[in-house]
Amino acid sequence: MPDPQAPLVSWHEAGATRTACWRSERGAPPPRRVTVVDDRLGADAAFRLASEGSALLWRGDFQNARQLLQAMTRRVERTRRKPAATPADAFNLYRLAQSQRARTLGMLLLPLDADYTIPLRRAPDVRQACRDAWGPGDAPSLVSLRELLGVIGAHEWRKKGVEIAALGARIHPHYGVFSPVRGEYVALLAQAPLPAATLAFDVGTGTGVLAAVLARRGVQRVVATDRDPRALACARDNVARLGLGGQVEIVEADLFPDGRAPLVVCNPPWLPGRAHTPLERAVYDPGGAMLRGFLAGLAAHLAPGGEGWLILSDLAEHLGLRSRDALLAMIDAGGLAVAGRLDTRPVHPRAADERDPLHAARAAEITSLWRLTARAA
Ligand SMILES: C[S@@+](CC[C@H](N)C(=O)[O-])C[C@H]1O[C@@H](n2cnc3c(N)ncnc32)[C@H](O)[C@@H]1O
Repeated sequence: MPDPQAPLVSWHEAGATRTACWRSERGAPPPRRVTVVDDRLGADAAFRLASEGSALLWRGDFQNARQLLQAMTRRVERTRRKPAATPADAFNLYRLAQSQRARTLGMLLLPLDADYTIPLRRAPDVRQACRDAWGPGDAPSLVSLRELLGVIGAHEWRKKGVEIAALGARIHPHYGVFSPVRGEYVALLAQAPLPAATLAFDVGTGTGVLAAVLARRGVQRVVATDRDPRALACARDNVARLGLGGQVEIVEADLFPDGRAPLVVCNPPWLPGRAHTPLERAVYDPGGAMLRGFLAGLAAHLAPGGEGWLILSDLAEHLGLRSRDALLAMIDAGGLAVAGRLDTRPVHPRAADERDPLHAARAAEITSLWRLTARAA
């Protein structure tokens, strides 16, 4: 049964009005203007129409649509950007450019049948990738080629997995779940001295990677939380694949599970800011709410003598989005003291890319594991 809440998109084609469900993970509204196009459309015309806000429903060859999207991407990249006066300006301009890029490139649409077959020449079979990302198909829909390529890419990553040195095994991220591709923060968690090996909480577990590392380090029981259904399913899948189901329990919760533990870990999204897509929700923490909530509630969830491990990069500080003083004030307001800190420099491909507008901030970035204890009352 089609979801009665699903937004619809309508267009004129071959003398009739057609309607389909509208899919957009990034929350783009259904386009009001849809032009039906095929292989005869050139990249300049496609780019102009998309920039003017006209969606392009592709009826040509699938592989040609991919090439057209690449040609449109090159045109977006040629757009001149304003110079930024401060790191915070550079960051805001960068995000603005990212969302303009997503809007323009998201205008090239493909049709999907109810079972996610793409009814186009030379189209790949994406049915399993779509079911993994969106659940069972129920009605014909339109989706942007750009988002569909994201679903296909995520499906490949899920099959292949990400090698985690600290586990000696692979973690399989699901679509829309934060992927531990930057291994430096996992390595910090693998090195920090354990305060106890009886029980740990992992707040915001994502793929379950940190919970799994703690279990492999010998923590007898780990309770890991998340509130995103995709993360919960993904963490359960990874824990089961690793044979850690007897040690790690995945529960749906807003921040902490019930009770206290001698070790509570949390790797919140590292940048305060609005999140436009599910993936951005793992990178951006709207209003810094998760960081603040973790620091405000930690002391009440620590067993006597316990430690909270906060994993956080200082990228937000280099970008002028949060100051070190503000972080220390939140730690203090939570009744916490800093018992120690482990630092590492990320190995980040973009840290070396001088064309990246955030190059200076990324090159200076340090990722830390803060060891926090409850201050004596
Ligand atoms: C940056 S990801 C980290 C995931 C994982 N711990 C890791 O280190 O790879 C942050 C995770 O916190 C989750 N999250 C955000 N707000 C939350 C909340 N209030 N309660 C529980 N989980 C939350 C997100 O869904 C996401 O999976």
